[in-house]
Amino acid sequence: MSLKYKETDPVRLSDDRSTIIVLDQTKLPDEVVYLNINSLDQMYDAIKTLAVRGAPCIGVFAGYCMAVLAEKYKELDPEDFAEKVRSDAAYLDSSRPTAVNLSWAVKRQLKLMDTGLSSGLTPDKITDRLFDEAVIIHEEDIGMCMRIAEYGLSLLHDGDGILTHCNAGALATTRYGTGLGPILLGRERGYVFHVYSDETRPLLQGARLTAFELVNAGVDETVICDNMASLLMKQGKIQAVLVGCDRIAANGDTANKIGTSGVAILAKHYGIPFYVLGTYSTIDVKMPTGDDIEIEYREPDEIRTMWYEKPMAPKGAKFYNPAFDVTDHELITAIITDRGILKPPYDRAIATVMGSR
Ligand code: MRU
Repeated sequence: MSLKYKETDPVRLSDDRSTIIVLDQTKLPDEVVYLNINSLDQMYDAIKTLAVRGAPCIGVFAGYCMAVLAEKYKELDPEDFAEKVRSDAAYLDSSRPTAVNLSWAVKRQLKLMDTGLSSGLTPDKITDRLFDEAVIIHEEDIGMCMRIAEYGLSLLHDGDGILTHCNAGALATTRYGTGLGPILLGRERGYVFHVYSDETRPLLQGARLTAFELVNAGVDETVICDNMASLLMKQGKIQAVLVGCDRIAANGDTANKIGTSGVAILAKHYGIPFYVLGTYSTIDVKMPTGDDIEIEYREPDEIRTMWYEKPMAPKGAKFYNPAFDVTDHELITAIITDRGILKPPYDRAIATVMGSR
């Protein structure tokens, strides 16, 4: 295990590897609070409540969760060990349905466990391997985000106005981020971008988290309400839209935070490039189209009471709270991955980079 952690990383492992230390993103930007997580219930809750959030970050966290869970069972005989780990993995995997990175990391760790078992390794040895693999997943994420940032920056110009939706920065990954990667890298290289961030109702990831990251990085950052994007586009303030993604289907349809597809439709109307940025682990070649992606529905009170002193709608009003939507691939100018910039036709481009062609 060679990874050296920065204090601000959203997810890291304690030195004695018993605990995952997580930056509680529900408390940002007002408080910087870390949670110590070691039980299965704490892991599930951290994902469900969005203390840990953002597709790649959830994947990195899940990699560590699998190792910490295995550690608890490593004294058992191999069969019982495997049964316990599998059952915990299934529960963890059920915490959020839309971002594929969660099940991707869980499956990757289960496969490693199964390979170890079939080659006669002890649970103790397998557990060591799961910890090593968790670090590899984490390091891979950092490398992938760096490559995405480089590819993305190659499509931008000094002085551009950029619209973002939700948070796809270092908090949602492990460093740099996907959607914010080109902006943060560009800032380091002296580019001046004027970034407008949709506040992103109902949980305000744009206002709370994207603004937090960009202001801290010294980027010119303006928060707008979600319904203002059209006007800014019409006013010529936006030259590119950059968003992250939670699952990319084999045809390029992309699930991301609720509201993303509306931004893509606006961008098409105004002739503004709409870029989706994501790691290869967010591509799910088993999903033929976006219609097959399961959308997470969340509690009404996220709309009704959160952020308001008093409930913002009368008793008896109903609330519909889908957390994600799917952007049709025809609205996407390019999908920027760590394996290159994908252009339409996406079914072919995706099959090529995923080695399924
Ligand atoms: O509900 P969240 O905050 O986990 O949603 C996050 C997003 O929609 C991000 O845009 C996506 O996960 C990409 S993060 C690099």
